[in-house]
Amino acid sequence: LTLYLPRDAAALAVGANAVARALKDEAARRGVEIRLIRTGSRGMAWLEPLLEMEQEGERLGFGPLAPEDVPELLDNFDTHPKSLGKIDEIPFFNRQTRLTFARCGVNDPLNLDAYRAAGGLNGLEHALRLSPEEIIRDITESGLRGRGGAGFPTGIKWETVYKANGTRKYIVCNADEGDSGTFADRMLIEGDPFLLIEGMAIAARAVGAARGYVYLRSEYPQAHATLSQALQIARRAGVLNRAFDIEIRLGAGAYVCGEETALLNSMEGKRGVVRAKPPLPAHAGFLNCPTVVNNVLTLAAAPTIMARGAGFYRDFGLGRSRGTIPVQIAGNVRRGGLFETAFGMTLAELVTDIAGGTATGRPVKAVQVGGPLGAYFPPYKFTTPLCYEAFDDQGGLIGHAGMVVFDETADMLALARFAMEFCALESCGKCTPCRIGAVRGTETLDRLRAGDPAARPLIEDLCETMREGSLCALGGFTPYPVLSALRHFPEDFTPVQEAAQ
Ligand code: NAI
Ligand code: SF4
Repeated sequence: LTLYLPRDAAALAVGANAVARALKDEAARRGVEIRLIRTGSRGMAWLEPLLEMEQEGERLGFGPLAPEDVPELLDNFDTHPKSLGKIDEIPFFNRQTRLTFARCGVNDPLNLDAYRAAGGLNGLEHALRLSPEEIIRDITESGLRGRGGAGFPTGIKWETVYKANGTRKYIVCNADEGDSGTFADRMLIEGDPFLLIEGMAIAARAVGAARGYVYLRSEYPQAHATLSQALQIARRAGVLNRAFDIEIRLGAGAYVCGEETALLNSMEGKRGVVRAKPPLPAHAGFLNCPTVVNNVLTLAAAPTIMARGAGFYRDFGLGRSRGTIPVQIAGNVRRGGLFETAFGMTLAELVTDIAGGTATGRPVKAVQVGGPLGAYFPPYKFTTPLCYEAFDDQGGLIGHAGMVVFDETADMLALARFAMEFCALESCGKCTPCRIGAVRGTETLDRLRAGDPAARPLIEDLCETMREGSLCALGGFTPYPVLSALRHFPEDFTPVQEAAQ
């Protein structure tokens, strides 16, 4: 009997280890032999711990499981009340286009043979037969853009580093996944770490780098453990070698260290303060050398492009947003998790069909897309398709594709205040509009709450100053949640005296 159970942080958080222990104990008591393979997650968070059983080449799912479900499960798998049928037929799963997450949750993430058997390393092997120019051409033609949030064309970034003067060049993977409601980087590292390693090796080949770093947030201990082991296995297998090796650098919890120049400072042992650009990291990054700084998902897309061709990847998507995007659905929803899809799905489809509406059953009031600095979308804007340009047109941003759903009880003034407070707490302090503006913004929203009508034009002015005058996205994008809340939900900003009249 072969069973699969995730050991991804989300599954562990809801008791996957207790289920694993119960399975082993109960099987031993009955004298039944089981092979329990611990995997990454399939991304269906509301079904975790999600156990899978292999039967005639198919996977049958059971979840969410508790240890007390185990005896009945071993009595009879077929009729167990927590049976979900075939994994591939669960609507949340079978409506996806899983390119980056194709292997995630299927097997032991540290089994390199299984990775190879499922097509892993084909991309790197192909890249090693190409010249750097040919790799960069393919990445450019695929239309891949930075998945950290800014959507900058990856091929152009790699080309800039390739052409930059420098005897040493670096690949830095930004795994400081700090946006609220996002977990795709963690899920990938915990579920398919060799894909990231392969992607970084392809980038290194393209730009001529001999060393890579993964800057990983310290709040991800499971990802750290899995990636550390994966790097050792890759070294032993010769995937990483003297020509290219990777080290992990742990962050210390500052949100701003997800900004690439603060990240580089932190890696160099300095305070995580943002550097002015130019110079771009592509010209003068880590230790002043030309450096590719890419998000986990950007690098993890490269093996697919190399293995299956630029045209294959490019065929997915909408407009200038090509390929797939792993949407992370969180907040007040019935079905939360990771949903990888080609660009172009509307917010309405994602919130209603895929996420199943709110967990509370109340109407959806707003969706925040793109982390704590993303705009709030009201339901009448849910026809917006998920792609960089459409979101920009609507005054929003996709960011790292995290979606946090709120029901009608959400207090938008409180959420706007949270954005300012968050910015004040996380500001690196380098520039005035952010360092001082966020503190004044919190106070001004408190004045609005207390009924001071003069506070409204002030907050709009302040947001303009922060947007135009901040050095990086933290101060520059904080106005997105504040102004979108103000514009789309003016009733929540009505001074209390007026509301009482
Ligand atoms: P940016 O637009 O300044 O730069 C994007 C990237 O392109 C950078 O790596 C930059 O160095 C590079 N670049 C720009 N021009 C270039 C050129 N001519 N040649 C080569 N490379 C070039 O955006 P930034 O400030 O790096 O990122 C902002 C984004 O970060 C926002 O959209 C936000 O959504 C996202 N974000 C993501 C978070 C996460 O947890 N993933 C957290 C916070 C923000
Ligand atoms: Fe630092 Fe804020 Fe200025 Fe960014 S906007 S450089 S976080 S002070």
